[in-house]
Amino acid sequence: MKRILSGIQPSGNLHLGNYFAMIKPILDYQEKYESYVLIVNLHALTSSFNREKLQKNTLDAAADFLALGIDIKKSIFWVQSDVPEVMELMWYISCLTPLGLLERGHAYKSKKQSNIPSSLGLLSYPVLMAADILLFQTDRVPVGPDQKQHLEICRDIAIKFNSTYGEVFKIPEPEITMRETVPGLDGQKMSKSLDNYISIFSDEKTLKKQVMGIVTDSTPVDEPKDPDKCTLFKLYSLFLDEKGRQELRNRYINPPLKYSEVKKELLGIIIDYFRPYKQKRKEIEEDRELIKSALMEGKEKAQAVASRTISQVRDAIGILCP
Ligand code: TRP
Repeated sequence: MKRILSGIQPSGNLHLGNYFAMIKPILDYQEKYESYVLIVNLHALTSSFNREKLQKNTLDAAADFLALGIDIKKSIFWVQSDVPEVMELMWYISCLTPLGLLERGHAYKSKKQSNIPSSLGLLSYPVLMAADILLFQTDRVPVGPDQKQHLEICRDIAIKFNSTYGEVFKIPEPEITMRETVPGLDGQKMSKSLDNYISIFSDEKTLKKQVMGIVTDSTPVDEPKDPDKCTLFKLYSLFLDEKGRQELRNRYINPPLKYSEVKKELLGIIIDYFRPYKQKRKEIEEDRELIKSALMEGKEKAQAVASRTISQVRDAIGILCP
């Protein structure tokens, strides 16, 4: 079976965009890949400097994924810093990474222009990501449009390492996840920073406010509407199969149709869909020991693989080991 590895940012407050573009695919991979999933708390350090927040977000991310259906018998699930070999590998590959390759990074350039302080860590973010991928001899990495370049950097580093020191690393391939990005309330990509999201674990009152805030056009109730230009249609479609989507499409084309009614339906669907997960999330949150023991099991399995690779790497580059 091919091995796939996904890194998840512990950034809190999951929304529909995270769920459909990232989480759901990860849950599906468990069935057809050997799946590795890590919470990337070391990456989070490039932009957040608060001890309590980092601890809370790390445990929250673990609770979210366990509630949503990550199965620790099928996936190896751990916290990045629990397998510190990744930082050792990062140094070795840093020494083979041309500075220009990192300076050309789109994510680096755009983060530098935001209010995130520029640092060596921010620049070398893709090298740490490459270390995640290479340490576990990964075949596939799920990438949306924003991570494509990072995977290219990883491949370049792996090829350079292999040609310098001999064939140690597998060269990872991209696994394309979503055909289309999930739109936010205003039609732009759903994201936390744009504050245009629909969260999946918040209370019904908040959820209602978000769904009712989806921006629609001003076509009168009894005129035909264009589903393909409608954010509400796109969001509703995420919960429908082909047949359901066709039915909704017909309702748009054959008036009358009131957007506010469609929003109410969608609200009900979202609430029903996430109700069991929300319940599970609550139970898990109250059971810290369960979260910790799940992560410990993952750490042990991941470490076994990591220590094998790191030994090969040390040997290949001439680090003398006792
Ligand atoms: N850079 C990824 C993101 O911002 C997170 C990440 C870290 C990752 N390490 C990874 C993704 C390894 C895939 C594989 O979302």
